[in-house]
Amino acid sequence: MTVTRGLEGIVATTSSISSIIDDTLTYVGFDIDDLAENASFEEVIYLLWHRRLPVASELEELKKQLAQNMALPQEVLDHFKMYPIDKVHPMAALRTAVSLLGLYDNEADIMDEEANYRKAIRLQAKMPAIVTAFARIRKGLEPIAPREDLNFAANFLYMLSGKDPEPIAVEAFNKALVLHADHELNASTFTARVCVATLSDVYSGVTSAIGALKGPLHGGANEAVMKMLKEIGTLENVEPYIRGKLANKEKIMGFGHRVYRKGDPRAKHLRLMSQKLTELTGEPHWYQMSTEIEAIVTGEKNLPPNVDFYSASVYHSLGIDHDLFTPIFAVSRVSGWLAHILEQYDNNRLIRPRAEYNGPGMQQYVAVELRG
Ligand SMILES: CC(C)(COP(=O)(O)OP(=O)(O)OC[C@H]1O[C@@H](n2cnc3c(N)ncnc32)[C@H](O)[C@@H]1OP(=O)(O)O)[C@@H](O)C(=O)NCCC(=O)NCCS
Repeated sequence: MTVTRGLEGIVATTSSISSIIDDTLTYVGFDIDDLAENASFEEVIYLLWHRRLPVASELEELKKQLAQNMALPQEVLDHFKMYPIDKVHPMAALRTAVSLLGLYDNEADIMDEEANYRKAIRLQAKMPAIVTAFARIRKGLEPIAPREDLNFAANFLYMLSGKDPEPIAVEAFNKALVLHADHELNASTFTARVCVATLSDVYSGVTSAIGALKGPLHGGANEAVMKMLKEIGTLENVEPYIRGKLANKEKIMGFGHRVYRKGDPRAKHLRLMSQKLTELTGEPHWYQMSTEIEAIVTGEKNLPPNVDFYSASVYHSLGIDHDLFTPIFAVSRVSGWLAHILEQYDNNRLIRPRAEYNGPGMQQYVAVELRG
């Protein structure tokens, strides 16, 4: 047996959804730069699920279906009110809520293609409602119902704050959603595929994926970046703080990647957004500190920033609570998880690798009263 720790470089499936080749990320053959500049998140959802961009009527239909399916069952909202609210991380709340949603979906265990597609729409639509409702309920505020006249990105911001979002905020948020939508066989997507390859249901697949995304080596990194920026506090403190961490062999959150070598193509879009937004909010130091950190980490370790690094200051500038950053990643990435789940069902084989055993050799059972 050859052991490949972390499955690095192992090609575990074929997929027609997204690809990373020579540090270029494409969704269905469209360069991420092209999509980030031009596409709406709804178009990207359609692209990932149908492997082509929608024509105008198809896009309208998808937007309508998403808007109509956003509202949550009252049971889910009531459930939030039972949580020990000050102790629950929104990612844990999201993971639980998606699992709970499955209990109220009559089609949860109906596994035909059409039923699975309908569940995909419902789940994609309800993710922003879950995140924003939880964010409000924990502050003692009532959840805000979605508006059918707003697009996906605007609806999220509206349901969070209750205010009509500024066009620049909608643009930034839409871009972030587009950039996070899919990423080949990343850890959470792989988790989703492993789960549904047992022919478990869509809700189980997405629930497991949320669990994988929560960790700081994956989606949890964006929240960790903001925590670091706050800890650093001032531009002058960047250099001693980062050099100290590197000297202690500690990881700098938002840097490095398993697949990219020269750099994460998504980071530059968020860097630009971070610059614009931090200037607008009168807090340019978050951007300045970030570029300073980038210069040091890239210089010392040759590690470029990944998607999570500049998304932190972007979301902060949009007035979003820091522990909602990773749930926002999930609101976008669920589009990719669902595409992969549907693709897995379409050509399924159980995913079951092996482990090389390195425990003790054969042993004899000894009754408990005779053990020393
Ligand atoms: C993304 C990540 C998990 C990839 O991990 P990986 O492919 O297993 O790479 P490793 O953790 O084995 O790192 C390889 C080397 O680079 C170093 N390295 C990797 N990421 C680093 C970081 N963010 N800061 C400092 N050093 C880092 C490791 O210490 C290791 O150095 P060594 O060979 O001297 O021991 C890793 O880069 C990381 O932990 N980054 C920070 C978390 C993050 O931003 N995650 C979001 C990813 S989109």
